[in-house]
Amino acid sequence: MSEATGKAFYVTTPIYYVNDAPHIGHAYTTVAADVLARWHRQRGEDVWFLTGTDEHGEKVLRAAEKNGLTAQAWTDHMVETAWEPMLATLDVTNDDFIRTTQERHQVRVQEFWQRLNDAGHVYTGSYTGPYCVGCEEFKIASELLEGDLCPIHGYKVEQLSEDNYFFKLSSYAERLLEFYAANPDFVQPESARNEVIKFVEGGLTDLSITRSTFNWGVPVPWDPKHVLYVWIDALLNYVTAAGYGNDPEKFARTWPADVHLVGKDILRFHAVIWPAMLMAAELPLPHKVFAHGWLLVGGEKMSKTKLTGIAPQQITDHFGSDAFRYYFLRQIAFGQDGSFSWENMAQIYQSELGDQFGNLGSRLTSMVERYRDGVLPSGTLDAALADAMRTAVAEADAAIERLAFQDALAAVMAFVRIVNGYVTEREPWKLAKDEANAGALDDVLYSTADALRAMAVLLSPVMPKACQLLWASLGAESALGPLSTQRIAAVADVHLPAGAVVTKLAPLFPRLEEQPTVVPA
Ligand code: MSP
Repeated sequence: MSEATGKAFYVTTPIYYVNDAPHIGHAYTTVAADVLARWHRQRGEDVWFLTGTDEHGEKVLRAAEKNGLTAQAWTDHMVETAWEPMLATLDVTNDDFIRTTQERHQVRVQEFWQRLNDAGHVYTGSYTGPYCVGCEEFKIASELLEGDLCPIHGYKVEQLSEDNYFFKLSSYAERLLEFYAANPDFVQPESARNEVIKFVEGGLTDLSITRSTFNWGVPVPWDPKHVLYVWIDALLNYVTAAGYGNDPEKFARTWPADVHLVGKDILRFHAVIWPAMLMAAELPLPHKVFAHGWLLVGGEKMSKTKLTGIAPQQITDHFGSDAFRYYFLRQIAFGQDGSFSWENMAQIYQSELGDQFGNLGSRLTSMVERYRDGVLPSGTLDAALADAMRTAVAEADAAIERLAFQDALAAVMAFVRIVNGYVTEREPWKLAKDEANAGALDDVLYSTADALRAMAVLLSPVMPKACQLLWASLGAESALGPLSTQRIAAVADVHLPAGAVVTKLAPLFPRLEEQPTVVPA
């Protein structure tokens, strides 16, 4: 967390299957992780942010076959044309991108499982059961809908038989329950924690960890006719990319992860199987697994398979990446499901971003140009605004600590509204008409400019582009240094100096014309 301990704040997204291109559900997790990473950097912490792609397994193999390519050619194609571009589209600042087909990953995965095999955590056996290729998971019969439908994907499961190797997951139930009890924040939110505890209390079955019916995977080191099950290969990305087994210094700086962000559909893998694997390997456990909800379409999880996926770019092309990043974190309580609607997004864009935030920046900078020749006058920061600023900083920072992005943005937007109210009430355009009010006008201009400075810092992890433009137009770049060097904790103590050169800001969130029709990508 801090430079003093030498431990970075380490945040991850799940690694994404490359059977298809990203939709806004994937972008949602990625943006949340990026906001968290940027916020912690803005706090002055050393941060390490990992994302990547999950490239093995039957699901990816079938997609490659359907498209007439080898699995490797298909994954390369998808990473280059779809997954890496998504990160650029959304201004994501990941520190590394791991692909499970990379040598650096595969070698460590083999070493890990060889160690567990040598230590007696693996045995041979056979298993037959319902398998969902969409989930890449053996399902529990009682959880299937109408007897044979996957509750997540809605399509028929397949009966799969494997003579293979098993990890003794069942022997970890007690230890896991003790761990959850001793670490009440490990699984968040509370509903996810309760679900996991209930699941483990029901008893765990051993986990089939190899496959022999296809070969698109990491070869089992002690029996290369088999490949490792995709999930026990994929979960290890969090340590293989972090230096496990090859860079002890990096591993000490990064591991354990501070937070794994995951969708609720993959909670058990992260909160049950992953900690059990780490326990078996005697490695420290991550601090937190946070399960967010789903973006829904027509009440169901948005998915490409069901042809309800919307590509992130369809939204960013129209509203821009900042508005995309803002909207989903502002509208949906992190941890709950939410729906995207084009009308709702247009409305939030117009009212909160355009009318409230963007317009305040345009108004203030144009008034400083007009009334003070673009030079920020010296003035006294309004006491009520100073208080509101302090409250916004404290509330937003505490909310981010809880991963309550919605509350953090609500706290900053409350401040934005207060400042708008202040400007409306003081009527600087009237003060400007009488030289006798010059001092009062200076105070309003100064206070509003400094409030905008605070907003630029607090909103920059969410809307980096707009905040950078605002920062530059306030003259803060020359007066206070780059936006990235501003510290959250100091927002209410650092102020814009009089004399800062202010230039008129073009609308940050211009009015938009017609709404395009969004069609599934
Ligand atoms: N490859 C696995 C994860 C391995 S992590 C070691 C996987 N990939 S995925 O591409 O299917 O999903 C990745 C993430 O996207 C999951 O957290 C999942 O919950 C999330 N989402 C997929 N569809 C979603 C929505 N409609 N809404 C929100 N998130 C969704 O699972």
